Amino acid sequence: MATAPKLDFGDFTRSKRVLHASQRQHQRAAKSLPLGVSDTYRYWGDDATIYVKRGKGALLWDLDGNRYVDFRLGWGPIILGYGDERVDRAARRGIEIGGVAALATELEASVAELMIEMVPSVEKVRFANSGSEAVATALRVARGYSGRDGFVMVEGAFHGMFDPVLWRTQMESWNPTSGEAPEVVPFGRGIPKAHRDLVGVVPLNDADALEDLFKRERDRIGAFLMEPILGNCCSIASRQRYLHDVRLLCDKYDIVLIFDEVKTGFRVARGGAQELYGVRPDLSTFAKSMGNGYPIAALGGSSEIMKVISGFDGVMHGGTFTGHPVSLAAAEETLRILRDTDALPRVEAWGRALQAELGAVFRAAELPHVFTGHPSMFGIMFREDLPESYRDWTTSNHDLYDAMARALPDYGLLPEPDSREPWFVCEAHAEFDPAGIAGAVAEVIATLER
Ligand SMILES: Cc1ncc(COP(=O)(O)O)c(C=O)c1O
Repeated sequence: MATAPKLDFGDFTRSKRVLHASQRQHQRAAKSLPLGVSDTYRYWGDDATIYVKRGKGALLWDLDGNRYVDFRLGWGPIILGYGDERVDRAARRGIEIGGVAALATELEASVAELMIEMVPSVEKVRFANSGSEAVATALRVARGYSGRDGFVMVEGAFHGMFDPVLWRTQMESWNPTSGEAPEVVPFGRGIPKAHRDLVGVVPLNDADALEDLFKRERDRIGAFLMEPILGNCCSIASRQRYLHDVRLLCDKYDIVLIFDEVKTGFRVARGGAQELYGVRPDLSTFAKSMGNGYPIAALGGSSEIMKVISGFDGVMHGGTFTGHPVSLAAAEETLRILRDTDALPRVEAWGRALQAELGAVFRAAELPHVFTGHPSMFGIMFREDLPESYRDWTTSNHDLYDAMARALPDYGLLPEPDSREPWFVCEAHAEFDPAGIAGAVAEVIATLER
C-alpha cells in the first residue's frame, strides 16, 4: 500500500506536461522494436507514447518525471498497488527456488487450493503465463471434451492475442438502422480466414440470438466463450437474467460454458463475476489480478471437464515456463491478501466514491452519463441509459469521452485513451481523495467542445 497523504484538488490542476525523455526513448526503441513497444496498443503515437520509470501504489512516473494517478493499472492486473511490498517479498521467496526446473513445485498446489476455495465453480486448476494462453487452453479443453470445434463469442469481447479469437466486431462502421448485424473482421493481417468459420458472434444480453445460433449450429458448436462483464468494451455487463439463461441454454444444447474472468477474476469479488452473479460456468480463465502484476494465469473448471487433461491421448497442456515459482509465489500472497483482508471491498467502495464524485461533475455539466460494470473496473458512457451490448456504444458520445481521456494526463490522471477500456481501481487508490480527481475532470470537461 502507498503511504502518500491524501491529495486534494490542487494537486490535479493542469501543468505543462513534457514528454521529451519519453520521445527520445521512443526514437531509440523504434530502431529495435516495431513501433518502439512490446504491445501494439502501448503505442500512442511517436510524440505521445509514454515510457515508464516506475510505479508505486496507484501512482506511475514516466521518464520525464510526470506523475500520474493511474486508472489503467496495466489493463487490470494491479489490484493492490504497484510495488506492493507484501507481494514483492513473496516473489523474492519464489526467486530463492532457483528458477524453472521443468518439474512441479509445492507452490502449484498451494495456489490451486486457494483458487478452489475462493471461486465457486473451480475444482481443478492448470496454470499458464498469460490470459491468452489460459483462454487458448480453455478452448482446447472445451473442444476436447465436446468433440466440436465451433464456438461462440460476444460482440466487443477480447480474449487475447491468439488467432482463433482475434475477431472483432466493426462497430465504427455499423449502421444501427440497417437491420444487419455488424461486420466481424480479423484484428489485422495474418489471421487465417479458416478460423472465421469456427466462430459465431452474438450481441450481449440477447438470449434469443444465442439460442437461434445454438439451434442452427448445434452439431458444430462446442463452447460459448464469454466475459460476464465486457472488460474491453466499456465494462458493459450481462443482465442477471441473461446470464442465468446462458447457463440454461448451454445445458440444453450441451455446450461448454467458459467464463473468461481474466479481468474480472479476483477483482469484482473474491470469486469473480461468477460469485457476483451466482452462475457457475464449466470452465473459467483467470490472469491479471491473481498475481498483482506478476505474469501468471490459470484455467479452472469442473473435475468432470478438466479430466480430459489426462495424458498423451487426452488434451495437451503445459509449457516450459508454466507454473514459474516467482509468479506462483506472488499469486499465493496476492490471493491470500484478497481472501483474508478487506482489500476488495475497499477497492469497490473507493470506486463507488469516485463514481459519485464524477457523476456530480457530469450532472453539473448537463452531460448524460452512465457508469457500467463494477466499481472496481467501471466504464463511463456518455449516454442516457445503461447499455445492453456493444451496439449501444454507437449511440454514446465516445468522441467526447476520448477527448476527455486524452486531456486528463496533463492533470496527472491516466485513464486509457479509448472509451472502451474501463477505469481500474486498486487498493492503493484509497490514499487519494475522489473529489480531487473529479475536480480535475470538471476542469477538463469545461474546456471540451460539445
Ligand atoms: C478478458 C480477457 N481475456 C484474455 C486476455 C488476454 O490476456 P493476456 O494479455 O494476459 O494474454 C485479456 C487481456 O486484456 C482480457 O481482457
